[in-house]
Amino acid sequence: MKILIIGNGGRESAIAQKLSSDSRIEAFFFASGNATTEKLGKNIQKTDIPSLRDFAVKEKIDLTIVGPEASLVDGIVDEFTKHGLKIFGPKKRTAQLEGSKAYSKKFMQQHGVKTAKAVVFDAYQEAVDYVVNHSYPLVIKASGLANGKGVVICKNVEDARATLYSFMIDRVFGDAGIKVIVEEYLKGFEASVIAFSNGKKLFPCIAAKDYKKAGNGDKGPNTGGMGSVAPSPEFTPEHFEDFRRNIMEPTLAGLHDEMLDFKGFIFFGLMITANGTYLLEYNMRLGDPETQSLLPLLENSLLDVILDCIDGKDVELKFSDKKAVCLVMCSGGYPGNFDIGYEITGLEKVKHSQILLAGAKYKADRVVTSGGRVLNLVATGDTYEEARKKVYEDALPVKFDYEYYREDIAKF
Ligand code: AMP
Ligand code: GLY
Repeated sequence: MKILIIGNGGRESAIAQKLSSDSRIEAFFFASGNATTEKLGKNIQKTDIPSLRDFAVKEKIDLTIVGPEASLVDGIVDEFTKHGLKIFGPKKRTAQLEGSKAYSKKFMQQHGVKTAKAVVFDAYQEAVDYVVNHSYPLVIKASGLANGKGVVICKNVEDARATLYSFMIDRVFGDAGIKVIVEEYLKGFEASVIAFSNGKKLFPCIAAKDYKKAGNGDKGPNTGGMGSVAPSPEFTPEHFEDFRRNIMEPTLAGLHDEMLDFKGFIFFGLMITANGTYLLEYNMRLGDPETQSLLPLLENSLLDVILDCIDGKDVELKFSDKKAVCLVMCSGGYPGNFDIGYEITGLEKVKHSQILLAGAKYKADRVVTSGGRVLNLVATGDTYEEARKKVYEDALPVKFDYEYYREDIAKF
């Protein structure tokens, strides 16, 4: 088989690494890939959907797996399917569950999916009038895609006014901020559950925990994710049952009702509170960096699971009892401004962990930084502590200028 993987992050490196031992795969292509994927196949510098489609037709790609949300929201699955190409992911209409928070909130409300109370505004003055009369904290979200930066937890009315102004008038996220969602603040801990869909049923993985904040102790700005662990140590079987009954099943019923059924991944971003489990958001793809710690524990063949889902067959997911830890090493300054192009050394001294490069590329035979989240170190162990020790020991010899990583991943 020939496989095309869309994306260039640690998640795509993890998918590729997982599939790389499958002898049925004769060639991998990545659009646009990174330094890990360059060693596993061929990186191609194409990102727009027509070029990707033409490439897949010409190369007779047997299966395309989509990592990031943007191309799903732009309709890559619709276009590939029209040309008879096999691709794993939702069509444009279903991808709106991630692409528009206004749409997904309405979906949750209509189908009885447990979620925070929220109101959607597209008129600035109405939004201001609402937040002035509200209690705090309060959460304001840009409806469209904003690279994970479109959510602000407002402590008071001044914060709320400033956020509404920057989203709706200054348009810091362009059209993504034309509509906003003003939402009740939920207090609790978060967990990520990703499920495979075969078009009829959902097959959930074990829950994972993402470390979203830049700083130790969950301080500082939100990032794309500074590390992850699987399984989530906090998410009990009781939480899972609550999730299944109040979130997953109503979601599945809603997908059927609205004819949004799809073959692909659905990611549930959960907040577990004293009043039970709430859905914060859907992503219609695998999470990054959750995937990096989930896939090493998946005992099934990933290729078989995906192909079976595409064929509408049921799958039985099996996860090992081990614990997995993913540590993200980043460029200093991320998620704000940072410089790239620094050489990464010491990778050959990594002993116990899988190295999944992300914002890194080859320059001649040197590996240099090319993004904010530079690389992931992933290890498994019988305990979190064992896996944690491995990634932190392996991080020591890995060096690049201004490198930064959190010191408290998997420290419980
Ligand atoms: P979202 O993209 O909707 O998942 O929001 C991004 C992050 O903002 C979440 O992972 C939470 O950390 C936080 N967040 C979102 N909605 C809420 C809420 N209603 N209450 C508290 N925190 C929230
Ligand atoms: N880790 C959260 C996400 O992929 O959006």
